Amino acid sequence: MTIQQVDSTNTYLKNLVSNSKPVIEGTVIMAVDQYAGRGQHQNGWFTEPGKNLTFSILLKPSFLPVSQQFDLVRAVSLGVFDALEPLLGDDLKIKWPNDVYYGGKKLGGMLIENMIQGLQIKNAIAGIGININQETFPENLPNAVSVKQILQQDYDLKYLLSEICRHIEAYYLSLKADKFLFVREKYLSRLYWLNEEREFKSKEGEFTGAIRSVTDTGLLVVKNNKGEDLEFSLKEIEFLH
Ligand code: BTN
Repeated sequence: MTIQQVDSTNTYLKNLVSNSKPVIEGTVIMAVDQYAGRGQHQNGWFTEPGKNLTFSILLKPSFLPVSQQFDLVRAVSLGVFDALEPLLGDDLKIKWPNDVYYGGKKLGGMLIENMIQGLQIKNAIAGIGININQETFPENLPNAVSVKQILQQDYDLKYLLSEICRHIEAYYLSLKADKFLFVREKYLSRLYWLNEEREFKSKEGEFTGAIRSVTDTGLLVVKNNKGEDLEFSLKEIEFLH
């Protein structure tokens, strides 16, 4: 369903799931004008009306224990990646945990909000924002990029939306069919800065290291220049350069 104007498609879908009769898995809410989008780390998500993709998908991964929730992050990230790769090619990467990057700039991101019941994930709202046809970004977002800025061409939002959903469904069905290894290996192979010597910052300070892997539960494994494998959760590490 497309909504003309909404604060946040994630919030809208969350309210729909909590307040009304059962909402079927696979429901997609897309906004033309999302005026109070929410991002990671309590940040906002800003986008010009009508230019970009801002949508949320309802999943009901009750087959997935809470301890494996990062596999959902992998499946959704890979779905977005596979839909954009035919347009953008090799410079497209997934920046851990779930940003979509092109040549060092952020093309999109996602906010997956799980509703937990016991040890299972009852509902997951996968909110996705991708910069498609926006031509300029405000100065406070120097790291943002859009498909149009890269390819100098407008793209059909509805077509890209259906491609993203098709690919997410394929990965989601892989998880359902227990093909965790396939999804985990694929995710790792798409990672930004994988096996490259780079500068990071942790609470211990700045250090040189290389991303080696991601643990099953989603921690980033970075080998430092003393040869130690260090594990980080989202708030514990910053990518410098
Ligand atoms: C990030 O910070 O990188 C995540 C951004 C997620 C934005 C999307 S846009 C559609 C959905 N609705 C929201 O309010 N946020 C997500």
